[in-house]
Amino acid sequence: MDIIKKHAVLEKSPTLLFIFSLLVVTVGGIVEIAPLFYLENTIEDVDGMRPYSPLELAGRDIYVREGCYVCHSQMIRPMRDEVERYGHYSLAAESKYDHPFQWGSKRTGPDLARVGGRYSNSWHVDHFLDPQSVVPESVMPKYAFLAETRLDTSQIEALLKTHRFVGVPYTDEMIEAAAADVRVQADPDGDWDALVERYPGAVVANFDDQPELTEMDAIIAYMQMLGTLVDFSTFTPDPTR
Ligand code: HEC
Repeated sequence: MDIIKKHAVLEKSPTLLFIFSLLVVTVGGIVEIAPLFYLENTIEDVDGMRPYSPLELAGRDIYVREGCYVCHSQMIRPMRDEVERYGHYSLAAESKYDHPFQWGSKRTGPDLARVGGRYSNSWHVDHFLDPQSVVPESVMPKYAFLAETRLDTSQIEALLKTHRFVGVPYTDEMIEAAAADVRVQADPDGDWDALVERYPGAVVANFDDQPELTEMDAIIAYMQMLGTLVDFSTFTPDPTR
């Protein structure tokens, strides 16, 4: 029996074909997956990455709640047109503290991975209150209610603890200080030195210019840090990883 005929036997018997396909897929799978268990880390460590500050994390929760990911991605692909428009391509390390990550693929609006620092806080306020007032052709919905909704901070410690549970390196000190940190980041007159020491690069401001701590403060704090933690003037990729 030559090889063609042998193969015909396999093709004519669904059971045999199933067993052999399974075998092939298993071997292929093991070859691809097994080495990953022997690597210490599949993500290159990059200087500057830190967990989200409590206010940024609360803002991120609002981002997820409002489904901003339905129109916005947070992943700059390593292609020239993307890099020229949005900045340095996204690194795996930049979303290592994201649970769940917000990469996305739907871009009704622009990618937001490096929107931090691109606009002033008051631009963001105007834009969230009424996107068409700053970009007349925008199809983005209004989020004016964020400015009228006080930020619920009662669960902030639990939120940090949950993220620690899934691997984000929040220290006991960070969790203890969370209730104070979440407020002080939106209060430039407050005592925010310790906050910035815990979360280097955190932007401290009364983001929405209102006395109360609102959901608007939180979402803008989150917007303003996106993509700003890694210093790309000194970053060089490690080709061995
Ligand atoms: C229906 C789709 C849609 C949704 C939902 C949406 N956006 Fe947008 N967004 C857009 C579009 C389109 C633009 C570009 C025009 C503009 O600036 O308004 C935009 C622009 C932006 C910009 C300015 C980006 C830049 O680089 O100029 C930010 C920041 C932003 N959106 C944040 C958000 C956040 C946060 C949410 C959730 C609270 C959200 N968007 C929800 C469609 C959307």
